[in-house]
Amino acid sequence: MDYIARFTEMDFSTRQEIVDRFGPLAFPMYYGGRFLHVWSSNIRIQLPASIIGNLIILYTLAQFGLFIWGYFLRPSRLPVYCHAETGSWVLVTGASDGIGRGFADEFVARGFNVLLHGRNPEKLAKVKREINLRWPKRQVEFVVADASSGDHPEDAVIEKVKQLPGKLTVLVNNVGGITTKPIYVPLSETTSEAVETCINVNARFPIQLTRGLLPMLQDNTPSLIINCSSTAGVHGVPYIAAYAGTKGFLNSLSQSLHTELKRSSLKAEVEVISFVIGNVISANNKSDVPFVTMSSAECAKGCLARVGCGEVVTFAHWKHFLTVQGMFLLPEKYRRTVLLSETEQRVADEKKRL
Ligand SMILES: NC(=O)c1ccc[n+]([C@@H]2O[C@H](COP(=O)([O-])OP(=O)(O)OC[C@H]3O[C@@H](n4cnc5c(N)ncnc54)[C@H](OP(=O)(O)O)[C@@H]3O)[C@@H](O)[C@H]2O)c1
Repeated sequence: MDYIARFTEMDFSTRQEIVDRFGPLAFPMYYGGRFLHVWSSNIRIQLPASIIGNLIILYTLAQFGLFIWGYFLRPSRLPVYCHAETGSWVLVTGASDGIGRGFADEFVARGFNVLLHGRNPEKLAKVKREINLRWPKRQVEFVVADASSGDHPEDAVIEKVKQLPGKLTVLVNNVGGITTKPIYVPLSETTSEAVETCINVNARFPIQLTRGLLPMLQDNTPSLIINCSSTAGVHGVPYIAAYAGTKGFLNSLSQSLHTELKRSSLKAEVEVISFVIGNVISANNKSDVPFVTMSSAECAKGCLARVGCGEVVTFAHWKHFLTVQGMFLLPEKYRRTVLLSETEQRVADEKKRL
């Protein structure tokens, strides 16, 4: 009690005095003292206010700590998926360009063999040659299938995977993008065929491919499924409604599948992760948004560093995390206004270019 009395009698406005008295212990002593002061001062409203304030500070510090750990310090779990004695294989869809190409390069550099998927055999053969030249010990194969077709193009890919001279342990559902030209079109002015194409490439193909390959991935555990989503799928960006919808679909698909696989067997370990990707320079996207924009290679690298982070829907890069979280600080009404004016600017820029 003597200890409490000493604290409560102290003039807490003079921080220097406490620093002089207690040295490095000054900070916890000062706040401990304030807490005891409030406790004994009989002003009941101050105590809960002080508790809530301190909890908010602790929560914010914990969130900041988790952010630093998750994006800058935590080692990736990716090496766990390179385990097959006959060689571990990764299937990267849409691997002839952009982020998919970035993924292929990164996986090969980390010891995996890669099955490239795309629609253009010449481009795929060129990528295969370039990788072989740089990494002669890795095996690279490719398979051609047009993901925009509604006629089960995934079957050819699944057949090719079955013939691989090793085990598939990673599936990257990267193929996708905005398939309309011009890019920004109101839904009412989008043709039925354009909507079908967008859904086929961005949603139907990835889910059917995943469904077809799942038994193999479950046999080859630990295994990994990466889905490439977009900030458009989180915000619901106007004038690209079909695309944004399919990217939201990938996030929900990943969450469902991850939970389903966790429940179905304790042994089967298939990690499912959906990356919310922001602006990335690629074959389909040359727009440069200050602070956010990065190269396809940087984006792929960022995704692989995040493998095993424990979040099913997460971000490829801390810059994308900050911009999305920043937007969510705005009330919904203002967030929508910002999105609308930003996209209308892009519509105007696109009209000028065309
Ligand atoms: N770039 C961004 O800013 C951004 C932002 C958010 C999310 N994402 C997502 O990231 C993923 C990759 O985007 P990206 O910008 O890297 O795209 P990209 O540069 O346009 O590359 C797309 C890849 O997919 C292939 N492809 C496209 N349509 C196909 C089809 N119908 N059948 C088979 N292959 C097809 C392309 O083949 P070809 O070489 O033959 O064209 C290419 O290899 C997409 O899912 C996209 O939605 C990108």
